[in-house]
Amino acid sequence: MSRILMVASEAAPFAKTGGLSDVLGALPRALTALGHQVAVLIPRYAQTRPFAMRRIWGDLPVTLDGVTYRPSLFQSEESEGFLFLDYPEFYDRDGLYGNAAGDFPDNALRFALLSRAAFEVARYVFAPEVLHCHDWQAGLAPLYLKGLAYDPTFYGLKTVLTIHNLGYQGLFPPSVLPAIGLDASLFTPEGIEFWGQVNYLKAGIVYSDALTTVSRKYAQEIQTPEYGFGLDGLLRARASVLFGILNGADYERWNPETDPLIPVNYSAKDLSGKQACKLALLREFGLPEAAEDKPLIGIVSRFTSQKGADLIAEAAGDFFASEDAYLVALGNGDPNYEELFRDLAASFPDRVAVHIGYDEALAHRIEAGADIFLMPSRYEPCGLNQIYSLRYGTVPVVRATGGLDDTIDSETGFKFQEYTSAAMLVALEAALAAFGDRKRWKKMMLAGMSRDFSWGAAAAQYSALYESLLNPKAG
Ligand code: ADP
Ligand code: GLC
Repeated sequence: MSRILMVASEAAPFAKTGGLSDVLGALPRALTALGHQVAVLIPRYAQTRPFAMRRIWGDLPVTLDGVTYRPSLFQSEESEGFLFLDYPEFYDRDGLYGNAAGDFPDNALRFALLSRAAFEVARYVFAPEVLHCHDWQAGLAPLYLKGLAYDPTFYGLKTVLTIHNLGYQGLFPPSVLPAIGLDASLFTPEGIEFWGQVNYLKAGIVYSDALTTVSRKYAQEIQTPEYGFGLDGLLRARASVLFGILNGADYERWNPETDPLIPVNYSAKDLSGKQACKLALLREFGLPEAAEDKPLIGIVSRFTSQKGADLIAEAAGDFFASEDAYLVALGNGDPNYEELFRDLAASFPDRVAVHIGYDEALAHRIEAGADIFLMPSRYEPCGLNQIYSLRYGTVPVVRATGGLDDTIDSETGFKFQEYTSAAMLVALEAALAAFGDRKRWKKMMLAGMSRDFSWGAAAAQYSALYESLLNPKAG
């Protein structure tokens, strides 16, 4: 069995903005269950501070461009595999990546420090055989390893990069190169240059031993110009080491039978609690209780162009004018999309209610209380909400892209292909028709609830990948 050090920018429950955090919160446990030793390194943000942790290393020297930073290292008291890089000047802020004014201007340095610090953690605290990096925030680590080739500490260390979202690459002007300790000679199209900028994710793609992404379908899609965000050529060139491994769901956190965050627990055997959750949700959002027997659509999303908010904007007016259906939405992000949802609620106050913000418990109450979960993503590397929806008996309506296509089938939900509001409406209408047929609807709910997306399958695939890197001949 292997020793794995994961490097990422979020991990549940310590820091979260999206699904990346859910993955880092759950995959290590599933790997541990297979016998691996796993540590996870993330920064210690302001939102991370309330968790019980102890300082285990006071002064971890990390040198970039001749400047030595001296972060310290904390360890979670509850989950000892979780390590936190403490450097208040960089991380002790309310946002992870930015605030209302936009991205933090020093993100290049903040995440270079994280990636470079991983090697000092590896040297002094936890010696891994595989360094498993996640997304652009850890993308420089495989490149830094090349620069440490002379250092016997890291002899034989293998690197894996998991791409959770190709739409975020970590692009910075070349003027950051000296401060992040990288030589200008790397700034070429074969290296880390990308349309005149330094690209952290590209560094990871070029220099890692193996690449993964979070569904089979997305692994194929990112090799096409439509989904490749300019990196499709490089990904095609690296296709022989690129694998799609579907995320799992953390059923310890997302299970209607035990979920402490929903008003009434329920199971496939007794769905009455779900109806109670629906009524509570309607009340909470100030929608009419008479809607209790009508289809209630739920949305929980980061509001970005990735998630298909523009389709909803286009379709909603006609849809709610003609259909006896209801919508509750939770999300935040792009101010334009926030406004769009606010406008929608203002135009249809009896049908649409919106909560702009980030609210973990409310996300659970929507999963439990809605009948239909809408996810019309333009692209979706995996998507976790539709998987949670299945377990909560909330039937997904999704665009057939990435992980949405891999996880939803005609027994459990409704899919549409074209990224158009017309195609989305056809799928939504089909869902409403099915909802009207109580027997058929219950069958779909139960089919979804019985699907198993637990982490074991993904962990086994990562395990096999680590093994193939560490013992290439055995495979
Ligand atoms: P992504 O990572 O692209 O945002 P996923 O579906 O993989 O999409 O994961 C999203 C995760 O973030 C889910 O756990 C979801 O419940 C949560 N989430 C997203 N937006 C919000 C929000 N506004 N409030 C609470 N939780 C949210
Ligand atoms: C990203 C993707 C999402 C995926 C998550 C976890 O945020 O947008 O589709 O589920 O990462 O891998």
